[in-house]
Order: sequence, then structure tokens, then C-alpha cells
Amino acid sequence: MSTVPSSILQLLARFGQEHVLQHWDELSTTSKSKLLKQIESIDFEIFDQLVAVSQCNANKSSENAILPSPFISVADEGIGWDDVEKAGEALVRQGKLGVLTVAGGQGTRLGWNGPKGTFPATPITGKSLFQLIAEQILFASEKYEVAIPWYIMTSVENDEITRSFLLDNNCFGLDRTDIFVFPQGVIPAVDMNGKMLLVEKDQIFMNPDGHGGVITALHRSGALEEMASRGIEHLAYVQVDNPLVKVIDPIFLGLHCSDRSSREVSSKCVMKSDPDERVGVFCKRGASTSIVEYSDMTTEQTHEKHGDNLAYCCGSIAAHLFATSFIESAASDLPWHVAHKVVPFIDSSTGEKVTPQKANAYKFERFVFDVLPLASNSIVLETERNEEFAPIKNASGHDSAETSMKLQCERATAWLQACGVEVALGATVEISPTTAASIGDLKRTTLPTQITAGEIVSL
Ligand code: UD1
Repeated sequence: MSTVPSSILQLLARFGQEHVLQHWDELSTTSKSKLLKQIESIDFEIFDQLVAVSQCNANKSSENAILPSPFISVADEGIGWDDVEKAGEALVRQGKLGVLTVAGGQGTRLGWNGPKGTFPATPITGKSLFQLIAEQILFASEKYEVAIPWYIMTSVENDEITRSFLLDNNCFGLDRTDIFVFPQGVIPAVDMNGKMLLVEKDQIFMNPDGHGGVITALHRSGALEEMASRGIEHLAYVQVDNPLVKVIDPIFLGLHCSDRSSREVSSKCVMKSDPDERVGVFCKRGASTSIVEYSDMTTEQTHEKHGDNLAYCCGSIAAHLFATSFIESAASDLPWHVAHKVVPFIDSSTGEKVTPQKANAYKFERFVFDVLPLASNSIVLETERNEEFAPIKNASGHDSAETSMKLQCERATAWLQACGVEVALGATVEISPTTAASIGDLKRTTLPTQITAGEIVSL
């Protein structure tokens, strides 16, 4: 193939991107068809939007003022939690719940060379983040005698290795047919002048479209039809990076469905540990609930007090319940967030690859929590931090494997102590998700009467 189809030439001209063909004459036939295929895969219709976002940094210009979000607390004794839990358990038993995990991240901050879900996360057995989710699903499937399908969003980059990892580990005991893996989309970055960058002479630079790409990817992959055929009505959304996350939580599900009409979205929060904790914060904007990322809040907002407490106190742990009917109807055109980054590119004058010293490009991504304001009916549940939040984000320091393992061990110790087991300071304990999902489950198992200092016990 030596000529470029006229339809492609017109498309590129219409959007001012003809330069991506500047090395066309130097390319082999294979490289030419690779580049054409990539151009054809790009959704140019959103391109003008992206350029506009990069010019005005649109995601920072939130029109409406924010206020702190109201929330319900699990500690609220006025709520009949036992009944709420029973209602949630009934829904799980009826096969109405599926699990959705976004696992497109590469674990770059963690310094892990591979999909983040393959990272060894537990203090004794070194179970991976994927295994911890899989085993919670397995435990609940057996407890409630029902299949709970697991939908996993990967990225183009880690899709194959994620699939192999699951298969090599026999899907951690889950039935292969109950796991649905699908990749998220990619989106081109642009330079300061709104032009795409060539990362190779035959390749335009594209990056994953953010975890908000999950809405489009669920539609495109056929996952929503698959859910409908199973009768799934609600999705428990969890990130891959929190070993303490309660993947299947009947109390949360019961609350989510406690209105006469089920809620479209429910979300979990914990009280922020300090004003500068790097978590999204639940806010009210007009009548709708939204999450504002810490980096988009002003210092005054972050530190604002309400009495002795932080005004914006509800930190997001990125755990939600979505009604599938809401996802089906939710527009997939969520706003784009823009980040100014270094992107290596082929210099048009020399034809050589250049890695700039400072940010030269705008990368775009969507955030899943931007669906929250689209919900007419949503709720925020405050849960206990030490029970449900021990994220692994960084290679060292806060939110690292070390801090998470300490928190995992502390929760396991607290559960054992609640069951009457004496656990000495200095013992290391781990409770498998296949042993118990709660203190109640643990009480039904055979336990040691005491664990001494220095002992390492995995149950
Ligand atoms: C996220 C939330 C933050 C929340 C915190 C809780 C955002 C922007 N921020 O922060 O509000 O308080 O978690 O721990 O989400 N992922 C994809 N595809 C992508 C990008 C990410 O699947 O293109 C997945 C990752 O694999 C991971 C999750 O999304 O499971 C979170 O991604 P990350 O960008 O690391 O968010 P955080 O900064 O950790």
C-alpha cells in the first residue's frame, strides 16, 4: 500500500492532524497498515472536546460551589442494621449481585513491574491483590450458594498478562465462566498546540482512558448484556488496590436497596485521617452528590472546620454499588480530566525520538466517580477505616505494602480478639478471605485459644 485512503486524509485534515503522516514515505507496508489501523480506531468526534479541555484546563473550573456531603454512619444505632443485612443477603442469594473491578493500572507508583492486581499484598502468605478479591467472591458464592460473576477491566497493556495470571492460578478457585475480562479504551494525548504526538514513526501516542472508561468499556465489551442474561441488578465496584475492601457487603447492598426504588449509586467513605490525606472527598454540588479529588480542592476547603471536625471529612475509599440499569442508561461522555505530562515523541525535523525535560503534552482520562452527579438517587455510607481501608499505592511510606500489611494484621487481631482469642502484641496474623468475611463467620470456625508474641499464624 503506497497511498493513503482519501477518507483518512480528509479526516485528518478536518481535525488538523495531517502531520501524523509525515513519515509515511519512509514506512514499510506493515508499518503503513499499522498506522492506518490506529488512525481508524481513534474517535475523532471527541477530539475537539479534548483540545478545548487542554486549552482551558476544564476540570478545574467547577461551576457550582461545593458543600460537604451528608452521609449515613454504620455506627448509627437508630438504623435496624440486622434487617438491612438480611435484605442484602437475600439479594446476594437471589443472584442479583456482580462484582466490578477496575484493574487497568500498572502500579507505576508502587514500582511493580506488572498489573497492580498481581502484587503480593498479604503479610504472611503473600496473596496477590487479585487473589484477595477472588477469594472473597468464592467465599460468598459458597456461603450464599450462588454464582457471583466478576467483571475485570484491564488496559490494552496489561490485558494478556492479567488473563494469563488468572488462568495460571486456576482463577483462584472461581469458575472460569464467571469471570469476564475486558480492556478499557485508549485516547491520544496532544501537545501544546492541540496536535497528536508520534511516539514512533508509525505510532501515535495513546494512553488508557482512565477508570471512567469503564462505562464505555462495559457497553462496548458486551458485559452489560452478559449481566442482563444472568439477572444481575447491582454491581459492587472495587479498585484493585485495597486488601481490606469488603467486596461483598450485605449491609451496604441492603442499604443501597432500602428505598422503595433502589438507589442508582451508593458509595462508601471513611473519615479522613488528616486534612491533607490524598483521597477524593464527597461533596454536594446543587442537589447532586459528587466526589472532588483532593488535588482539585483549595487548601481552605481541605482545612475548613465544622466545629472540631473537618467540614469536608468524607474520604472516598472508591467502593460503590451501581444499579446496572443506571450504568446502562448513564451517558458514557463523562468529563475529561487533563494532566500535563512528559511524553517522548519523534521530532519532525530530525526524525529522532526526543524525551523532553519538562511536560510537553496533555494526557486525558475519565474518572468513574463522575457518574455520581448523574444519579438522581444516591447515598454515602460512612464505614470504619480500620475495617475496610488499607490501600497499597506507594513503594514506601504511607499507603505502602508495609503500612497496609500492618493494618491487615491489626484487623485480623481485632477479629480474633472479638472471638475471645488472646493475641499477644508482636504476633503476626492473617485471616484468609476463604476462612471468614466477618467476625460472625470467624466465630463459626475452629480457633486457637491464644497466639503468643512472635508467633506467625495464618488462618
Ligand atoms: C483513587 C481515587 C481517590 C480515592 C482513592 C482511594 C481517582 C482519581 N482517585 O486514587 O478519589 O480516594 O483511590 O484509594 O480515582 N485504573 C484503571 N484504569 C486507569 C487508571 C486507573 O483501571 O486508566 C484503576 C487502577 O488499576 C486502580 C484504580 O483505578 O484499581 C485507582 O487508580 P489510581 O489512579 O491509582 O487512583 P488513586 O490515585 O489511587
